[in-house]
Amino acid sequence: MAGEQERQPTQLSRREALKTMGFWSVSGAAAAVLGVPGLRFFVGKSLEPGDEHWVEAGPVKELSPRTFRAIRYQFRSKDAWREVDRQGLVYVRVQEDGTVLALSAQCTHLGCLVGWREAEDRFACPCHTGFYDAQGKVISGPPPRPLVRLETRVENGTLLVRV
Ligand code: FES
Repeated sequence: MAGEQERQPTQLSRREALKTMGFWSVSGAAAAVLGVPGLRFFVGKSLEPGDEHWVEAGPVKELSPRTFRAIRYQFRSKDAWREVDRQGLVYVRVQEDGTVLALSAQCTHLGCLVGWREAEDRFACPCHTGFYDAQGKVISGPPPRPLVRLETRVENGTLLVRV
């Protein structure tokens, strides 16, 4: 009795602490069991990776190391629950070492399409005068990052670019 009288009103006995921990453990487990499928229902396909799309960029043996080939593309893709039209422009060329370089033409500043200027050996963005070199690295202007390099593969002599 004397021990209980000395106990502070805010302190829990060991038994009360175990009861509280048990309650919250069971509640947490129940929330996880019920919540994960519920969250999956609401989030659904938005967490799944988007469908991969490869664009044909012509015969690989016809690529030149001196200039870029511009490839325009357009297709319909599924983005979570809705279908969206996707279009864009990529530049491809073969490099001195025989590898293929594929660059997205989308400027990394605000997304305008850059143009290849062969005489100047660089890409120019008309929107805010951004310039990139032939490897896609920023030379000057507001673009914060290089042009995005895209994955390529060759199938039966045809170059494919992943967009
Ligand atoms: S969008 Fe290209 S420089 Fe601004």
